[in-house]
Amino acid sequence: MKLFELQAFGIEHLKRAERPAPEPDADEVMIRIRAVSLNYRDLLLVQGKYNPRLNFPRVPVSDGAGEVVAIGEKVTAWNIGDRVVIPFMPAWLDGELSAAKASSALGGDVDGLLQEFVVIRADALLPLPPPFSFEQAAALPCAAVTAWNGLFVSGNLQPGQTLLLQGTGGVSLFGLQFAKIAGATIILTSSSDAKLERVRAMGAHHTINYRTEPDWEKRVLEITQGRGVDLTLEVGGVGTLAKTLKATAYAGHISLIGVLTGISGELQIGHILHKALTVRGIYVGSRAMFAAMNAAITQHNLEPVIDRVFSFDETLDAFRHLESAQHFGKIVIRFN
Ligand SMILES: NC(=O)c1ccc[n+]([C@@H]2O[C@H](COP(=O)([O-])OP(=O)(O)OC[C@H]3O[C@@H](n4cnc5c(N)ncnc54)[C@H](OP(=O)(O)O)[C@@H]3O)[C@@H](O)[C@H]2O)c1
Repeated sequence: MKLFELQAFGIEHLKRAERPAPEPDADEVMIRIRAVSLNYRDLLLVQGKYNPRLNFPRVPVSDGAGEVVAIGEKVTAWNIGDRVVIPFMPAWLDGELSAAKASSALGGDVDGLLQEFVVIRADALLPLPPPFSFEQAAALPCAAVTAWNGLFVSGNLQPGQTLLLQGTGGVSLFGLQFAKIAGATIILTSSSDAKLERVRAMGAHHTINYRTEPDWEKRVLEITQGRGVDLTLEVGGVGTLAKTLKATAYAGHISLIGVLTGISGELQIGHILHKALTVRGIYVGSRAMFAAMNAAITQHNLEPVIDRVFSFDETLDAFRHLESAQHFGKIVIRFN
């Protein structure tokens, strides 16, 4: 089977290779991957910033969808030809996260989905939300489930509450779509006025350009009449968290998700204490969260925002496009 494997750090070391196709164990399913989508994590991994001690070669990419082509002898839930989407952590079915569940994250310490065939435990898989294409379903596992968890599971977002979203990457755009169906007021920041126009068309109520308005937390306070937001999906990391703390209301919640501006730095914790804030880390989510999210997607006819679809042969271009941060929504790679 054909695949791309990372042989050293750097996009240029992502090399086309061939390996024998894997075979399913008794409780596994073999899937022919039809589409994958890229996340910022995939770029960090390729650049050597996610796991500097990575063992090479490694097949990257966590998110994908495909069709069942073989089933283990104990599997009854799936049939050959079924269209499935693969959760980010196949071992996290439900309940709280644990080390064992986290270690199953695809495209990190174990090989990911940038290969023609994979075997996955059968109880992890989910059907495609009807009437999704493989490309649309491949957009969901990491960014969408993370947004869902950050908003509704960890963040407990309620109708009428105010939400802050940062940038127009995958997590934030899913966050916008989900928060709209939940009836929240949405404030969204971006470096681009053109992108801000697009999110207003999608229903964002207030927008701020964080390049031209670097003190964006003051604008958030103005918009909320000094109160601050109830919830933030914090994807910026060390460069934005201090401002987010200022922009958050008393007893507000911050779902700590991303590291776009870096992972470590100095932090004043005063706002967390004095405003009794909850800051909770998010690591994607479980299969149960994914299933609940898919039900809402179907109910509300939501569709992922797909920036561009690349072919398998254009995989390196897809990674370079992600690196450029020009995208609006998900970057997808379609397998032939
Ligand atoms: N913890 C988890 O489970 C989890 C899951 C998914 C993602 N993440 C993390 O969440 C972050 C976002 O991931 P993603 O896949 O959505 O990324 P992405 O699609 O690559 O999004 C990139 C976008 O983020 C925005 N951005 C960059 N710097 C920013 C800043 N200083 N302030 C506000 N926005 C900024 C930019 O939007 P504009 O062009 O509009 O400015 C950029 O286009 C990454 O750090 C990723 O590693 C974590």
